[in-house]
Amino acid sequence: MQQGGGGSKTDFDLKHIISIRDFERRDVDHLLDRAGEIDKGLYEKNSLEGRILALLFFEPSTRTRMSFETAMARLGGKTISVDCVEASSIVKGETLADTIRVVSGYADAIVLRHPKEGAARLASEFATVPVINAGDGAGQHPSQTLLDLYTIRQSMDLDRIDVGLLGDLRYGRTAHSLAYALSFYDATLHTIAPGGLELPANLVRELREMGTEVIEYQDIMDMIRDLDVLYVTRIQRERFPDSASYYSAALSYRITPEHLDGTRSSLILLHPLPRAGEIDPGVDSLPCARYFEQSRNGVPVRMAILQELME
Ligand code: NCD
Repeated sequence: MQQGGGGSKTDFDLKHIISIRDFERRDVDHLLDRAGEIDKGLYEKNSLEGRILALLFFEPSTRTRMSFETAMARLGGKTISVDCVEASSIVKGETLADTIRVVSGYADAIVLRHPKEGAARLASEFATVPVINAGDGAGQHPSQTLLDLYTIRQSMDLDRIDVGLLGDLRYGRTAHSLAYALSFYDATLHTIAPGGLELPANLVRELREMGTEVIEYQDIMDMIRDLDVLYVTRIQRERFPDSASYYSAALSYRITPEHLDGTRSSLILLHPLPRAGEIDPGVDSLPCARYFEQSRNGVPVRMAILQELME
């Protein structure tokens, strides 16, 4: 589905970045190609001079927020922000719709992170400027997916790869967006999650309907040898209804150098970060560990997004 009305499609015509479901494969490819050019220094340094990006983060963030700030600064633009709900009019009872209407009057685009699934979609209905979903509860995190794909593409062709998703696949929005995007490239998905934290059944059904093979495992050792990419996520503690159910899943998996013995030479290990014990620091110096490179890639990918939406 394309946003932004009918007519003939140019390179990229999404008006907002809300969900990977709104993308076609060529939209993803286009942004990854742009990010690649930006990474080589092929971009106009002041293309967003005079433009303002609003950062509305109603949940904690380090990488997403700072990489959007960095991206905007590198393109010559400025950012304004609300990052502490307690210091905003939300505590006075202002609705998200009103906040978005108001901020639309100040900024040329809005990056929104919110604990409620669907918040970014709702915001896009009230905004008069582009909205970028920087995570909506357990929903989606499309700009993270683009940088995940960009990182994979630095090492291999995206078509028909074997990708393992390990961790909290129920609440992990990065896993949801990535799984969907990989279906554009005929990936085979190998999944492993603590009991009760498997990929949502409706997403698995949707992926299978799109022709994506999804294979579930119980034991990491049974899947790791067949992978080109292992994508590890943390347990999303903040989304658990109570601490007892969190503690029963916490620390139930941890990738160590021993797990990586005898794996494919092409294997790369990714993690959206922050990690909370899922990857042993002993793995960090291995050539397959790409998670810090992955977080660095947030800058060129988000520069590409901002240029497409704001230029
Ligand atoms: C992720 C998120 O917020 O969903 N973080 C990020 O943006 N890199 C992953 C996480 O918090 O586990």
